[in-house]
Amino acid sequence: MKYKDNSWDFRNSDTKELTHCFHAYPAMMIPQIARRLLKKYGSSAKTLFDPYCGSGTSLVEANVKNINAIGTDLNPLARLIAKTKTTPIDIQTLDLYLKDFSDYSFNLLFNIQKSDSIVIPHFSNIDFWFNASAKKYLSLIKIYVDNIKQLKIRNFFLTAFSETVRESSLTKKGEFKLIRIPEQKREKFKPDSFGIMLSKLSRNKEGLLDFMKSKNNGSNSNIYDFNTVNFVPKDIIPDESVDIVLTSPPYGDSRTTVAYGQYSRLANQWMGIKDASNIDKSLMGGVRYTNNYFINSEHLQETLDKIDKEDSKRRAEVESFFIDYKNSIDNVSKTLRKKGIVCYVVGNRTVKNINIPMDIITQDFFNNNGFNHLETIIRNIPNKRMPSQNSPSNIPGKKSSTMKNEFIVVCEKN
Ligand SMILES: C[S@@+](CC[C@H](N)C(=O)[O-])C[C@H]1O[C@@H](n2cnc3c(N)ncnc32)[C@H](O)[C@@H]1O
Repeated sequence: MKYKDNSWDFRNSDTKELTHCFHAYPAMMIPQIARRLLKKYGSSAKTLFDPYCGSGTSLVEANVKNINAIGTDLNPLARLIAKTKTTPIDIQTLDLYLKDFSDYSFNLLFNIQKSDSIVIPHFSNIDFWFNASAKKYLSLIKIYVDNIKQLKIRNFFLTAFSETVRESSLTKKGEFKLIRIPEQKREKFKPDSFGIMLSKLSRNKEGLLDFMKSKNNGSNSNIYDFNTVNFVPKDIIPDESVDIVLTSPPYGDSRTTVAYGQYSRLANQWMGIKDASNIDKSLMGGVRYTNNYFINSEHLQETLDKIDKEDSKRRAEVESFFIDYKNSIDNVSKTLRKKGIVCYVVGNRTVKNINIPMDIITQDFFNNNGFNHLETIIRNIPNKRMPSQNSPSNIPGKKSSTMKNEFIVVCEKN
Protein backbone atom coordinates (compact mmCIF):
# COMPACT_ATOMS: atom_id res chain seq x y z
CA MET A 1 0.00 0.00 0.00
CA LYS A 2 1.36 3.40 -0.98
CA TYR A 3 -0.50 6.57 -0.10
CA LYS A 4 -0.09 10.26 0.54
CA ASP A 5 -0.90 11.45 4.04
CA ASN A 6 -0.44 15.13 4.88
CA SER A 7 -0.72 14.45 8.60
CA TRP A 8 2.88 13.18 8.35
CA ASP A 9 4.07 16.64 7.26
CA PHE A 10 4.03 18.00 10.83
CA ARG A 11 3.88 21.44 9.30
CA ASN A 12 3.67 23.54 12.48
CA SER A 13 5.35 21.19 14.88
CA ASP A 14 8.27 22.12 17.07
CA THR A 15 11.11 20.00 15.69
CA LYS A 16 13.59 21.26 18.28
CA GLU A 17 12.13 19.77 21.43
CA LEU A 18 14.27 17.84 23.95
CA THR A 19 17.85 17.36 22.80
CA HIS A 20 16.77 17.74 19.16
CA CYS A 21 17.71 21.42 19.63
CA PHE A 22 21.40 20.60 20.08
CA HIS A 23 23.06 20.99 16.71
CA ALA A 24 22.03 21.53 13.11
CA TYR A 25 22.80 18.67 10.75
CA PRO A 26 22.03 18.22 7.05
CA ALA A 27 18.87 16.30 6.14
CA MET A 28 17.83 15.69 9.74
CA MET A 29 14.84 13.48 10.34
CA ILE A 30 11.85 15.21 11.89
CA PRO A 31 11.52 13.82 15.45
CA GLN A 32 7.74 13.59 15.03
CA ILE A 33 8.23 11.03 12.23
CA ALA A 34 10.39 8.80 14.41
CA ARG A 35 7.94 9.24 17.31
CA ARG A 36 4.89 8.32 15.26
CA LEU A 37 6.62 5.34 13.62
CA LEU A 38 7.70 4.05 17.03
CA LYS A 39 4.15 4.43 18.31
CA LYS A 40 2.78 2.53 15.32
CA TYR A 41 5.43 -0.16 14.95
CA GLY A 42 7.61 -0.15 18.04
CA SER A 43 5.19 -0.63 20.94
CA SER A 44 6.85 -3.88 22.06
CA ALA A 45 10.35 -3.09 20.75
CA LYS A 46 13.35 -3.40 23.05
CA THR A 47 16.14 -2.71 20.55
CA LEU A 48 16.30 -0.19 17.74
CA PHE A 49 19.08 0.08 15.18
CA ASP A 50 19.83 3.10 12.99
CA PRO A 51 22.51 2.26 10.38
CA TYR A 52 22.90 5.96 9.31
CA CYS A 53 22.18 7.63 12.62
CA GLY A 54 23.47 11.12 11.74
CA SER A 55 22.71 13.46 14.63
CA GLY A 56 20.71 10.73 16.41
CA THR A 57 17.06 11.73 15.98
CA SER A 58 15.74 8.17 16.05
CA LEU A 59 17.99 7.22 18.97
CA VAL A 60 16.65 10.06 21.13
CA GLU A 61 13.06 9.08 20.35
CA ALA A 62 13.78 5.39 21.02
CA ASN A 63 15.24 6.16 24.44
CA VAL A 64 12.25 8.31 25.37
CA LYS A 65 10.13 5.22 24.68
CA ASN A 66 12.40 3.03 26.83
CA ILE A 67 13.92 1.29 23.78
CA ASN A 68 17.67 0.68 23.74
CA ALA A 69 19.24 2.13 20.63
CA ILE A 70 22.29 1.33 18.53
CA GLY A 71 23.48 3.77 15.92
CA THR A 72 26.36 3.89 13.50
CA ASP A 73 27.71 6.71 11.36
CA LEU A 74 31.01 7.24 9.58
CA ASN A 75 31.07 10.95 10.31
CA PRO A 76 32.76 11.67 13.70
CA LEU A 77 30.79 14.88 14.17
CA ALA A 78 27.50 12.99 13.71
CA ARG A 79 28.59 10.46 16.33
CA LEU A 80 29.53 13.19 18.79
CA ILE A 81 26.16 14.93 18.41
CA ALA A 82 24.20 11.66 18.61
CA LYS A 83 26.11 10.58 21.70
CA THR A 84 25.65 13.91 23.47
CA LYS A 85 21.94 14.05 22.64
CA THR A 86 21.33 10.65 24.23
CA THR A 87 23.57 10.94 27.31
CA PRO A 88 22.02 12.06 30.60
CA ILE A 89 24.35 14.16 32.78
CA ASP A 90 24.31 14.99 36.44
CA ILE A 91 22.96 18.54 36.27
CA GLN A 92 24.67 19.77 39.43
CA THR A 93 28.07 18.83 38.02
CA LEU A 94 27.17 20.37 34.68
CA ASP A 95 26.13 23.59 36.43
CA LEU A 96 29.52 23.79 38.13
CA TYR A 97 31.26 23.58 34.77
CA LEU A 98 28.90 26.08 33.18
CA LYS A 99 29.60 28.58 35.95
CA ASP A 100 33.32 27.91 35.73
CA PHE A 101 33.35 28.38 31.96
CA SER A 102 31.40 31.60 32.28
CA ASP A 103 34.01 32.90 34.78
CA TYR A 104 36.81 31.76 32.47
CA SER A 105 35.36 33.71 29.53
CA PHE A 106 34.76 36.80 31.66
CA ASN A 107 38.34 36.77 32.95
CA LEU A 108 39.77 36.39 29.46
CA LEU A 109 37.57 38.97 27.83
CA PHE A 110 38.36 41.54 30.50
CA ASN A 111 42.05 40.66 30.42
CA ILE A 112 42.06 39.48 34.02
CA GLN A 113 43.59 36.26 32.80
CA LYS A 114 46.49 36.38 30.33
CA SER A 115 46.01 34.79 26.95
CA ASP A 116 49.28 35.50 25.07
CA SER A 117 50.69 32.00 25.08
CA ILE A 118 47.81 30.24 23.36
CA VAL A 119 48.51 27.52 20.84
CA ILE A 120 46.44 27.82 17.69
CA PRO A 121 45.91 24.52 15.88
CA HIS A 122 47.33 23.99 12.42
CA PHE A 123 45.20 22.50 9.71
CA SER A 124 44.94 23.20 6.03
CA ASN A 125 43.06 26.38 5.13
CA ILE A 126 42.51 27.52 8.73
CA ASP A 127 43.35 31.09 7.67
CA PHE A 128 40.97 30.88 4.75
CA TRP A 129 38.02 30.12 7.02
CA PHE A 130 38.85 32.00 10.26
CA ASN A 131 40.14 35.48 10.95
CA ALA A 132 42.80 36.10 13.60
CA SER A 133 40.46 36.96 16.48
CA ALA A 134 38.18 33.97 15.81
CA LYS A 135 41.21 31.68 15.79
CA LYS A 136 42.34 33.08 19.11
CA TYR A 137 38.95 32.85 20.85
CA LEU A 138 38.19 29.39 19.50
CA SER A 139 41.61 28.18 20.66
CA LEU A 140 40.93 29.53 24.14
CA ILE A 141 37.58 27.75 24.27
CA LYS A 142 39.12 24.54 22.97
CA ILE A 143 41.81 24.62 25.66
CA TYR A 144 39.10 24.83 28.30
CA VAL A 145 37.06 22.00 26.76
CA ASP A 146 40.07 19.70 26.34
CA ASN A 147 40.81 20.04 30.04
CA ILE A 148 37.41 18.74 31.13
CA LYS A 149 38.09 15.34 32.65
CA GLN A 150 34.59 13.83 32.56
CA LEU A 151 33.85 12.53 29.08
CA LYS A 152 30.11 13.21 29.22
CA ILE A 153 30.65 16.84 30.15
CA ARG A 154 33.49 17.24 27.66
CA ASN A 155 31.23 15.93 24.88
CA PHE A 156 28.46 18.29 25.98
CA PHE A 157 30.90 21.22 25.66
CA LEU A 158 32.38 19.90 22.40
CA THR A 159 28.94 19.76 20.81
CA ALA A 160 28.37 23.43 21.64
CA PHE A 161 31.92 24.20 20.51
CA SER A 162 31.29 22.60 17.12
CA GLU A 163 28.42 25.00 16.43
CA THR A 164 30.51 27.88 17.76
CA VAL A 165 33.25 26.98 15.26
CA ARG A 166 30.82 27.10 12.39
CA GLU A 167 29.25 30.39 13.48
CA SER A 168 32.67 31.97 14.06
CA SER A 169 33.90 30.96 10.61
CA LEU A 170 33.85 33.00 7.43
CA THR A 171 31.24 30.71 5.93
CA LYS A 172 27.90 31.83 4.59
CA LYS A 173 25.10 31.25 7.09
CA GLY A 174 22.18 29.02 6.19
CA GLU A 175 24.28 26.83 3.87
CA PHE A 176 25.40 23.31 4.58
CA LYS A 177 28.19 23.52 2.01
CA LEU A 178 31.25 25.59 2.86
CA ILE A 179 30.91 28.86 0.98
CA ARG A 180 33.06 31.84 1.96
CA ILE A 181 31.37 35.18 2.62
CA PRO A 182 32.34 38.05 0.29
CA GLU A 183 35.49 40.08 1.03
CA GLN A 184 33.77 43.25 2.25
CA LYS A 185 31.82 41.23 4.82
CA ARG A 186 34.91 39.30 5.88
CA GLU A 187 36.69 42.45 7.04
CA LYS A 188 33.80 43.50 9.24
CA PHE A 189 33.10 40.04 10.64
CA LYS A 190 33.91 39.99 14.37
CA PRO A 191 32.23 36.93 15.88
CA ASP A 192 31.65 36.86 19.62
CA SER A 193 32.76 33.23 19.98
CA PHE A 194 32.48 33.18 23.78
CA GLY A 195 28.97 34.64 23.61
CA ILE A 196 27.95 32.08 20.96
CA MET A 197 29.38 29.24 23.04
CA LEU A 198 27.61 30.41 26.21
CA SER A 199 24.26 30.70 24.45
CA LYS A 200 24.58 27.20 22.87
CA LEU A 201 25.50 25.75 26.26
CA SER A 202 22.53 27.29 27.98
CA ARG A 203 20.07 26.27 25.23
CA ASN A 204 21.45 22.71 25.26
CA LYS A 205 21.19 22.47 29.03
CA GLU A 206 17.45 23.23 28.80
CA GLY A 207 17.07 20.60 26.05
CA LEU A 208 18.95 18.06 28.13
CA LEU A 209 16.76 18.71 31.17
CA ASP A 210 13.64 18.13 29.06
CA PHE A 211 15.12 14.96 27.57
CA MET A 212 15.98 13.59 31.00
CA LYS A 213 12.48 14.36 32.27
CA SER A 214 10.84 12.69 29.25
CA LYS A 215 13.14 9.69 29.30
CA ASN A 216 13.01 8.79 32.98
CA ASN A 217 13.89 5.12 32.28
CA GLY A 218 17.00 2.94 32.07
CA SER A 219 17.36 2.73 28.27
CA ASN A 220 20.55 3.82 26.57
CA SER A 221 22.14 4.48 23.18
CA ASN A 222 25.41 3.10 21.88
CA ILE A 223 27.00 4.73 18.90
CA TYR A 224 29.61 3.15 16.61
CA ASP A 225 31.48 3.75 13.39
CA PHE A 226 31.03 0.45 11.55
CA ASN A 227 30.02 0.49 7.93
CA THR A 228 26.99 -1.70 7.19
CA VAL A 229 28.01 -1.70 3.52
CA ASN A 230 30.78 -4.10 4.55
CA PHE A 231 29.42 -5.90 7.62
CA VAL A 232 27.69 -5.59 10.96
CA PRO A 233 29.89 -6.72 13.88
CA LYS A 234 28.09 -9.64 15.48
CA ASP A 235 29.49 -8.89 18.92
CA ILE A 236 27.70 -5.55 18.76
CA ILE A 237 24.53 -6.68 16.97
CA PRO A 238 23.98 -10.44 16.87
CA ASP A 239 21.83 -11.78 14.01
CA GLU A 240 18.08 -11.52 14.57
CA SER A 241 18.44 -9.39 17.70
CA VAL A 242 16.92 -6.11 16.50
CA ASP A 243 13.19 -5.35 16.77
CA ILE A 244 13.07 -2.24 14.65
CA VAL A 245 15.33 -0.37 12.24
CA LEU A 246 14.37 3.27 11.86
CA THR A 247 16.60 5.37 9.65
CA SER A 248 16.97 7.97 6.91
CA PRO A 249 19.76 6.92 4.57
CA PRO A 250 21.55 9.26 2.19
CA TYR A 251 19.80 9.36 -1.19
CA GLY A 252 22.96 9.54 -3.28
CA ASP A 253 26.70 10.06 -2.99
CA SER A 254 27.89 13.08 -1.02
CA ARG A 255 29.46 14.77 -4.04
CA THR A 256 26.23 15.11 -6.01
CA THR A 257 23.72 15.18 -3.13
CA VAL A 258 24.26 16.17 0.51
CA ALA A 259 27.89 16.68 1.56
CA TYR A 260 27.77 15.53 5.20
CA GLY A 261 31.57 15.47 5.44
CA GLN A 262 31.99 18.93 3.99
CA TYR A 263 29.36 20.35 6.34
CA SER A 264 31.25 18.85 9.29
CA ARG A 265 34.79 19.54 8.12
CA LEU A 266 35.69 22.67 10.07
CA ALA A 267 34.32 21.29 13.34
CA ASN A 268 36.04 17.94 12.77
CA GLN A 269 39.32 19.75 12.03
CA TRP A 270 39.10 21.83 15.19
CA MET A 271 38.43 18.63 17.11
CA GLY A 272 41.61 17.13 15.69
CA ILE A 273 39.97 14.48 13.46
CA LYS A 274 42.50 13.21 10.94
CA ASP A 275 41.29 12.96 7.35
CA ALA A 276 38.44 15.36 8.04
CA SER A 277 38.58 16.33 4.36
CA ASN A 278 38.07 12.77 3.14
CA ILE A 279 34.92 11.77 5.03
CA ASP A 280 32.62 12.23 2.05
CA LYS A 281 34.60 9.69 0.03
CA SER A 282 34.07 7.07 2.74
CA LEU A 283 30.27 7.48 2.73
CA MET A 284 27.87 5.48 0.56
CA GLY A 285 28.53 6.00 -3.13
CA GLY A 286 31.93 7.55 -2.39
CA VAL A 287 33.81 4.89 -4.35
CA ARG A 288 33.17 4.23 -8.04
CA TYR A 289 32.89 0.51 -8.89
CA THR A 290 34.12 -0.65 -12.25
CA ASN A 291 33.13 -4.33 -12.08
CA ASN A 292 29.65 -5.46 -13.02
CA TYR A 293 27.52 -6.21 -10.00
CA PHE A 294 24.23 -8.06 -10.04
CA ILE A 295 21.52 -5.83 -8.62
CA ASN A 296 18.27 -7.66 -8.28
CA SER A 297 15.82 -4.81 -8.86
CA GLU A 298 14.07 -4.32 -12.19
CA HIS A 299 13.14 -0.80 -11.18
CA LEU A 300 16.74 0.14 -10.53
CA GLN A 301 17.86 -1.56 -13.75
CA GLU A 302 15.31 0.37 -15.80
CA THR A 303 16.34 3.64 -14.15
CA LEU A 304 20.04 2.99 -14.75
CA ASP A 305 19.37 2.18 -18.41
CA LYS A 306 17.51 5.48 -18.83
CA ILE A 307 20.31 7.48 -17.20
CA ASP A 308 22.89 5.61 -19.28
CA LYS A 309 21.26 6.88 -22.48
CA GLU A 310 21.80 10.45 -21.26
CA ASP A 311 25.17 10.16 -19.54
CA SER A 312 27.11 6.96 -18.82
CA LYS A 313 29.27 8.65 -16.18
CA ARG A 314 26.24 9.63 -14.12
CA ARG A 315 24.89 6.09 -14.51
CA ALA A 316 28.11 4.71 -13.03
CA GLU A 317 27.82 7.15 -10.11
CA VAL A 318 24.23 6.21 -9.37
CA GLU A 319 24.96 2.50 -9.78
CA SER A 320 27.91 2.66 -7.37
CA PHE A 321 25.71 4.29 -4.76
CA PHE A 322 23.04 1.61 -5.10
CA ILE A 323 25.59 -1.23 -4.93
CA ASP A 324 26.62 0.13 -1.52
CA TYR A 325 22.99 0.61 -0.53
CA LYS A 326 22.09 -2.95 -1.51
CA ASN A 327 25.03 -4.41 0.44
CA SER A 328 24.04 -2.34 3.45
CA ILE A 329 20.42 -3.54 3.29
CA ASP A 330 21.58 -7.19 2.93
CA ASN A 331 23.64 -6.82 6.11
CA VAL A 332 21.05 -4.82 8.04
CA SER A 333 18.36 -7.41 7.15
CA LYS A 334 20.25 -10.12 9.03
CA THR A 335 20.12 -8.13 12.27
CA LEU A 336 16.31 -8.19 12.41
CA ARG A 337 14.36 -10.80 14.29
CA LYS A 338 11.41 -12.55 12.63
CA LYS A 339 8.50 -10.09 12.31
CA GLY A 340 10.99 -7.29 12.92
CA ILE A 341 10.18 -3.98 11.22
CA VAL A 342 12.26 -1.68 9.03
CA CYS A 343 11.26 1.96 8.44
CA TYR A 344 13.38 3.74 5.82
CA VAL A 345 12.67 7.40 5.20
CA VAL A 346 13.98 8.06 1.68
CA GLY A 347 13.94 10.70 -1.04
CA ASN A 348 13.54 10.10 -4.76
CA ARG A 349 16.04 12.35 -6.47
CA THR A 350 16.35 13.26 -10.12
CA VAL A 351 19.44 12.67 -12.23
CA LYS A 352 19.43 13.97 -15.81
CA ASN A 353 15.72 14.66 -15.39
CA ILE A 354 15.14 10.99 -14.60
CA ASN A 355 13.43 10.24 -11.33
CA ILE A 356 15.12 7.58 -9.21
CA PRO A 357 12.39 5.66 -7.34
CA MET A 358 14.45 5.01 -4.21
CA ASP A 359 11.32 4.02 -2.26
CA ILE A 360 10.56 1.17 -4.69
CA ILE A 361 14.22 0.17 -4.93
CA THR A 362 14.37 0.03 -1.11
CA GLN A 363 11.28 -2.17 -1.13
CA ASP A 364 12.85 -4.46 -3.79
CA PHE A 365 16.07 -4.81 -1.78
CA PHE A 366 14.14 -5.77 1.36
CA ASN A 367 11.88 -8.17 -0.58
CA ASN A 368 15.04 -9.92 -1.79
CA ASN A 369 15.97 -10.41 1.87
CA GLY A 370 12.67 -12.04 2.81
CA PHE A 371 10.70 -8.98 3.93
CA ASN A 372 7.08 -8.09 3.08
CA HIS A 373 6.20 -4.55 2.19
CA LEU A 374 3.63 -3.17 4.63
CA GLU A 375 3.22 0.40 3.45
CA THR A 376 4.84 3.48 1.94
CA ILE A 377 3.64 6.80 3.27
CA ILE A 378 4.29 9.84 1.08
CA ARG A 379 4.75 13.11 2.95
CA ASN A 380 5.59 16.67 1.92
CA ILE A 381 8.90 18.08 3.14
CA PRO A 382 7.99 21.41 4.73
CA ASN A 383 10.82 21.84 7.24
CA LYS A 384 13.75 19.79 6.06
CA ARG A 385 16.54 22.12 5.01
CA MET A 386 17.37 20.80 1.54
CA PRO A 387 17.36 22.20 -1.95
CA SER A 388 13.86 21.92 -3.36
CA GLN A 389 15.31 22.95 -6.69
CA ASN A 390 18.58 22.05 -8.27
CA SER A 391 20.21 22.04 -11.64
CA PRO A 392 20.42 18.34 -12.43
CA SER A 393 21.49 18.94 -16.02
CA ASN A 394 24.25 21.24 -14.72
CA ILE A 395 23.03 23.92 -17.12
CA PRO A 396 23.11 27.25 -15.27
CA GLY A 397 19.64 28.60 -14.74
CA LYS A 398 17.92 25.39 -15.76
CA LYS A 399 16.27 24.26 -12.57
CA SER A 400 14.05 21.34 -11.94
CA SER A 401 12.21 20.70 -8.74
CA THR A 402 13.28 17.72 -6.70
CA MET A 403 12.69 16.38 -3.24
CA LYS A 404 9.35 17.90 -2.42
CA ASN A 405 8.28 14.58 -0.99
CA GLU A 406 9.70 12.01 1.27
CA PHE A 407 8.74 8.33 1.31
CA ILE A 408 8.45 6.31 4.49
CA VAL A 409 8.94 2.70 3.44
CA VAL A 410 7.86 0.10 6.01
CA CYS A 411 8.61 -3.62 5.62
CA GLU A 412 8.32 -6.62 7.93
CA LYS A 413 10.63 -9.63 8.10
CA ASN A 414 8.91 -12.92 7.28
C1 LIG B 1 20.22 11.61 6.12
S1 LIG B 1 21.59 11.56 7.18
C2 LIG B 1 20.89 10.95 8.65
C3 LIG B 1 20.24 12.03 9.43
C4 LIG B 1 19.68 11.54 10.76
N1 LIG B 1 18.49 10.76 10.59
C5 LIG B 1 19.37 12.74 11.64
O1 LIG B 1 18.22 12.98 12.00
O2 LIG B 1 20.33 13.50 11.93
C6 LIG B 1 22.52 10.23 6.56
C7 LIG B 1 23.77 9.88 7.37
O3 LIG B 1 24.36 8.73 6.79
C8 LIG B 1 25.73 8.77 7.06
N2 LIG B 1 26.38 7.76 6.19
C9 LIG B 1 26.56 7.78 4.86
N3 LIG B 1 27.12 6.63 4.45
C10 LIG B 1 27.26 5.85 5.55
C11 LIG B 1 27.73 4.54 5.79
N4 LIG B 1 28.20 3.79 4.80
N5 LIG B 1 27.71 4.05 7.04
C12 LIG B 1 27.25 4.81 8.07
N6 LIG B 1 26.78 6.05 7.90
C13 LIG B 1 26.78 6.57 6.67
C14 LIG B 1 26.12 10.22 6.82
O4 LIG B 1 27.31 10.56 7.49
C15 LIG B 1 24.88 10.93 7.39
O5 LIG B 1 25.13 11.30 8.72
